Amino acid sequence: MSKGPAALVREEIRALAAYHVANAEGLVKLDAMENPYRLPEALAREMGDRLARVAINRYPDPAAPGLKRRLREAMDIPDRLEVLLGNGSDEILQVVSMALARPGATVVAPEPSFAMYRMSAVACGLGYHGVALRPDFTLDEEALLAAIAKHRPALTWIAYPNNPTGNLFPREAILRIVAAAPGLVVVDEAYYAFSGGASLLSEVGRHPNLLLVRTVSKLGLAGLRLGLAIGTPEWLRELEKLRLPYNVNALSMAAGELLLDHREVLEEQTRRIVADRARLEAALDAIARIERFPSAANFVLVRVPDALSAFEALKGRGILVRNFHGSHPLLAHCLRLTVGTAEENDRLLEALAAAVA
Ligand SMILES: Cc1ncc(COP(=O)(O)O)c(C=O)c1O
Repeated sequence: MSKGPAALVREEIRALAAYHVANAEGLVKLDAMENPYRLPEALAREMGDRLARVAINRYPDPAAPGLKRRLREAMDIPDRLEVLLGNGSDEILQVVSMALARPGATVVAPEPSFAMYRMSAVACGLGYHGVALRPDFTLDEEALLAAIAKHRPALTWIAYPNNPTGNLFPREAILRIVAAAPGLVVVDEAYYAFSGGASLLSEVGRHPNLLLVRTVSKLGLAGLRLGLAIGTPEWLRELEKLRLPYNVNALSMAAGELLLDHREVLEEQTRRIVADRARLEAALDAIARIERFPSAANFVLVRVPDALSAFEALKGRGILVRNFHGSHPLLAHCLRLTVGTAEENDRLLEALAAAVA
């Protein structure tokens, strides 16, 4: 009998494809919703000095009081709520999925949405049911409520704003879903900084089954790998048991503390990205044969006549975006364009106009 992975690894894991990260070497990187700006020179140097003093011979303090205090300040998290740190919010998604993976339990999420909802469900042995958005990517509330009534999910994911579509679902609809769901509803606010203040933070703690997830990745700190869950002490006490003891490393902790002390730098970059998003959207609307979807995030989803040829044409001009054609029927010929610097956006627009001409 074989003792190799084909015989021993669970079928559903073998059927998965690993999360794909494109090689971006030498390309303008507009594929992963990163903030395009580096730190100012002086701040980067200060970070270097600070990191040089970190005692990396020691394990980090898992309670991370300094980092949590700064995250609370930066995100206006009320004292009545707790914070759980993750190695990126990706890890939080996995911790939540693990906690709820009773035998036979299922997960429901609108689709298309963030790929890791399904990945982490499968990884943890949970059943998964995607509920299609409407063709214009608005939430099909009736279908979602029907799926919740049918599958009785232990966990429902709502990305607010949604990725890869960029839009915000109606707040009242999300609250109706929270009320109807028998299980936990996690609102994933990875893009909250670009949403013009739209957030369900004030609702956390008012419902026994609502948890919020955020990240500093999209604020300009994707390389640190730092995400957080925000919820009641009752929920986070349970999730804390599944967090690996030293999941956030000492260097990320120290850098996070310093950079959140200078968060005006990140906030200014975020404001610039929001302003440039509006310019990008207006310029996209002026290109014939491009359908542009509304965005409350740091990226814009568009539909072009032929996504693969447009993707390749952009790449040929040194620009990497994300091609979603083939990943979900609703995303036929869709490209997701991360908002870059003004100069990068201009290059993108010129190349895209040429590609669809
Ligand atoms: C909706 C959503 N949630 C979570 C994440 C994960 O972010 P990170 O692990 O960098 O915190 C992403 C990343 O693209 C995302 O789009």
